[in-house]
Amino acid sequence: MSRTIGILAGKGGVGKTTLTANLGYALTELGNKVTLVDANLTTPHLGFHLGMHLVPKTLHDVLRGYTSVRNATYVHPLGFKVIPGSISVKDLVNVDIAKLSNVTSHLSDKSDFILLDCAPSLGREAITALQATDEVLIVTNPDLPSVADALKTLKFAQKTGKIFSGAVLNRVKWGSGELKKSEVEEILGSRIIAEIPEDKNVPKSIAAKTPVLDFSTNSPASTEIRRLAHHLVGKEYNIRTNYGFLDWLVGWMTK
Ligand SMILES: Nc1ncnc2c1ncn2[C@@H]1O[C@H](COP(=O)(O)OP(=O)(O)OP(=O)(O)O)[C@@H](O)[C@H]1O
Ligand SMILES: [Mg+2]
Repeated sequence: MSRTIGILAGKGGVGKTTLTANLGYALTELGNKVTLVDANLTTPHLGFHLGMHLVPKTLHDVLRGYTSVRNATYVHPLGFKVIPGSISVKDLVNVDIAKLSNVTSHLSDKSDFILLDCAPSLGREAITALQATDEVLIVTNPDLPSVADALKTLKFAQKTGKIFSGAVLNRVKWGSGELKKSEVEEILGSRIIAEIPEDKNVPKSIAAKTPVLDFSTNSPASTEIRRLAHHLVGKEYNIRTNYGFLDWLVGWMTK
């Protein structure tokens, strides 16, 4: 049975698209059939992260009733499938976001995992995407505004009866002025299932239009995202992942 997971946050810019692209690849490496959907319709970035932003048919065309899901689905060279969004403003006209659940239903017999890269905030776009998912993964940075917005999103998702797969702390520097993992867990009332470090390879990989797992396969962020993928499928991951301040310092010094 396929699992449809919405990657949500609340606050913008915390790493939803980065996580969608990389978790998608990590789950593919584990032998799953994965489809990534750019459900951030007003500011779609997944195509930029994967070098697939200039495709002929997009999710927008599907939601406007102009093409089929199949025609807007592309196979990425790394093995997963992607339905990118259109970067053109004119393609926002007549988009029927309510059709998103038809898209995920259509994909469900062809994918083990469908990951939806959702819009920030809790506007119509994010809520409709949430409705099209079974499970929710919430991304936050270790600061109070991000965590407060993550909490709102989490509460909303729980009210709608979605399975909460866990919260992911991204861009962790283990520095002062940052909320600690335990503090974030206390605020959210939930366990953090991954702590993805601040990693200079992430922006470099985005510039190279490929997941960091591909760009720098053993970098701290790649390792932790792989560990998260193992966790989601209930597999054990044996590689050391307890990156801490020293790892961050070495990374920072070698920038
Ligand atoms: N672990 C990380 N280490 C370093 N930089 C990171 C990390 N994760 C994300 N970033 C940087 O943060 C920026 C925002 O990431 P991303 O686009 O994935 O966020 P988002 O939540 O999808 O944003 P939006 O709300 O606009 O959709 C990117 O430029 C990326 O380089
Ligand atoms: Mg994004």
